[in-house]
Amino acid sequence: MFVNMIDILNKSREGHYGVIAPNICNEDTARAAIEAAAETNSPIILDLIYSATPDITLLAQIVKYLADRVSVPVALNLDHGGDFKLHIEAVRAGFSSIMVDRSSMPYEQNVAEVAELVKVAHSVGMSVEAELGHVGTAADGDGQTSDLYTNVDQAADFVARTGCDALAVAIGTAHGKYPAGYVPHLDFDRLHELYEAVEVPLVLHGGSGSGDENLARATREGITKVNVGTSLFSAGMQNLAEHAAELTRANLGYKMISDAYKAELIRHMELVGQVGKA
Ligand code: 13P
Repeated sequence: MFVNMIDILNKSREGHYGVIAPNICNEDTARAAIEAAAETNSPIILDLIYSATPDITLLAQIVKYLADRVSVPVALNLDHGGDFKLHIEAVRAGFSSIMVDRSSMPYEQNVAEVAELVKVAHSVGMSVEAELGHVGTAADGDGQTSDLYTNVDQAADFVARTGCDALAVAIGTAHGKYPAGYVPHLDFDRLHELYEAVEVPLVLHGGSGSGDENLARATREGITKVNVGTSLFSAGMQNLAEHAAELTRANLGYKMISDAYKAELIRHMELVGQVGKA
């Protein structure tokens, strides 16, 4: 069942469990993610990576087709968003939600650009995720730079002035692969303050490699949506690499990637408590 992202998030915020938003980039990953949700009777939010997707309108059609053939709630979000034109394309394609990530811009510009797209999205019943503070790149050590963390007082002002429906916060995670052996330290005190200060669901980016216990605790203590990409794709690539010599046909390789992507996704879904919550 294709739904608005905010319906899933409001329910999970009330129920104090998290929802994993897996990155998808094509039909195979969309199908694997929807199967994972259906098999575990869970809600799911598909976070489309536009830079890895040649045609977001086509992929949105595929997601809606697949979503309407399962009974669990499925939402489609434009992860990070892009320029104004791309957001309008997502609106026209009927996404459930767009992320408007202007977190590397000065505060007032972030407010203005998010507010503008909130007006557009809300006029067609679509929700908007925005970001305050900045979740950078793990390889650059960005998660360790508390200057980039979300300011609690600013968060309340930001949500009030933009009208965004969900807020991505920076509390110590970063995107991509962390240096070997490094597990981030999350600023849980800041998370608690943000949860009290802001009424909209909070989003954690950079879920991969951020520590199973950190993800479980974060979703118990205030995070509602957890974005995970790198771990799922890495699991797929590893499975393919391990079995490449046995492959007789290339199409079996796609299946090896999807199978491992799906298994790693279900493992993450179990961590945050969404299983059985459809
Ligand atoms: P990872 O690839 O680090 O899991 O981050 C995913 C993400 O935050 C997508 O928005």
